[in-house]
Amino acid sequence: MAGATGQAGEQGWSSRTAFLLAAIGAAVGLGNIWRFPTLAGENGGGAFVLVYIACVFLIGLPLVLSEVMIGRTGREDAAGSIARVAERSGVSTKWSVFGGIEILAAFLILSFYSVVAGWAIYYVFVMIGDVASSIGSGAPFGPAFQGEAQDVITGRMGTLFGSLGTMIGMHTIFMVVTVLIVANGVHDGIEKAAGTLMPAFFVLLVAITIYGAFTGEFAQAVKFLFTPDFSQLTPTAVNEALGQALFSLSLGSAALITYGAYVGDDVKLAPTAGMIAAADTGVAILSGLMIFPIVFAVGLDPAAGPVLVFQSLPVAFSQMPAGSLIGLAFFVLIFFAALTSSISLLEGPVAWVIDRFGLKRLHAALVVGGGAYLIGLLCAMGYNVLSDVRPLWFWDIFASNDILDTIDGVTGKIMLPLAALGVSLFIGWRADRRLVAAETGLSAGMLTLYRFVMAWLAPLAVFLILLFGLFPGLL
Ligand code: PFF
Repeated sequence: MAGATGQAGEQGWSSRTAFLLAAIGAAVGLGNIWRFPTLAGENGGGAFVLVYIACVFLIGLPLVLSEVMIGRTGREDAAGSIARVAERSGVSTKWSVFGGIEILAAFLILSFYSVVAGWAIYYVFVMIGDVASSIGSGAPFGPAFQGEAQDVITGRMGTLFGSLGTMIGMHTIFMVVTVLIVANGVHDGIEKAAGTLMPAFFVLLVAITIYGAFTGEFAQAVKFLFTPDFSQLTPTAVNEALGQALFSLSLGSAALITYGAYVGDDVKLAPTAGMIAAADTGVAILSGLMIFPIVFAVGLDPAAGPVLVFQSLPVAFSQMPAGSLIGLAFFVLIFFAALTSSISLLEGPVAWVIDRFGLKRLHAALVVGGGAYLIGLLCAMGYNVLSDVRPLWFWDIFASNDILDTIDGVTGKIMLPLAALGVSLFIGWRADRRLVAAETGLSAGMLTLYRFVMAWLAPLAVFLILLFGLFPGLL
């Protein structure tokens, strides 16, 4: 099933389920478990969640369908696929520049994603040590970090940041595993990894949520996440909700186009896109329902920011029954989720290198993974020896960002929206209508709606994120 010229896909996914698991694995990641609860917490909960859901289904879902469709139609890497669709539509292949932006964005996101995933690995080791000592002390189902003061527990994050060697070590482990999986190919690498990790992830997610529901403040968490208080809803929050929807669905970063290129011709794309968006949103909400009951149970601040998951939750685990085991399960869950996403981040650029330069898959994975690894080293150093560095000090919106935050900000605020804008304009205005109708398989009514979204709603909304993201002073 390999494409006419695309070489990266080999024989493609072995089934629709394999594709679904891989695509859901790409979508579900640190964005759901770390970024979504952080943003919901910082932006007052309910109202933010509502806007986020609206963004996912009104704009994100049609874009997911578009990207997967471009991939399956073009059967190449992200840039090549857009060029093929353009050719078949009789328009300029220059539209593929948006594919190029997606590939570059994926490469950059991978670099810092691996560093943050490395923090999760560090906490996996911490929790393994804690489980071992609780077993040793004869209390295997006790709270985590028995007898430790709160500042010692929260201090672990600082200890990690203080040890560049440890941070680099964790980043190295994560990147090596990612490269190994991608080097093994679509079928034997990506598909097998997602097929094992995603079911394990879901079991852990449901188990910890049930645990939180029984031992934590579930009702308070439900109220926090689902009672919209629109007075808390600032324009920046709306802006962040749309940006988070793009990031969480893995839009604008080559993953979905590339994975789409390996999808069989018989797969109906619209329901498949619906399942990806629904699963991703379901996991984001479940993550909220997993994390906030635990946060509220011990009176922690839901608006703690990016340290919520890594610094606050261990405190909660230290005060809850079986906290040691639950803590271990929790960080393993984050690791699994991050891994299925990083694979997709690597695959986009790797497919491009294979298609474009004819490299062997192993070599392509080493070159791209190695490059992202080096940039990741800089991100890690940004927490340590380079903590004074502010790469875009001259640009007010990025002026206070360290290296990692700068790359996160530039990709999230500029590159992802720009790529999404390009894709929606391309599909909404330039791509051949009959081709789009045939490939999406939408009914006439849905097709009209879909076209409206791609031609007007998505470009406008995404343009606004770009504008206000870059010039917050306009708000
Ligand atoms: N969607 C992933 C998450 O929510 O963590 C992040 C991501 C993966 C973004 C793959 C982009 C991508 F291509």
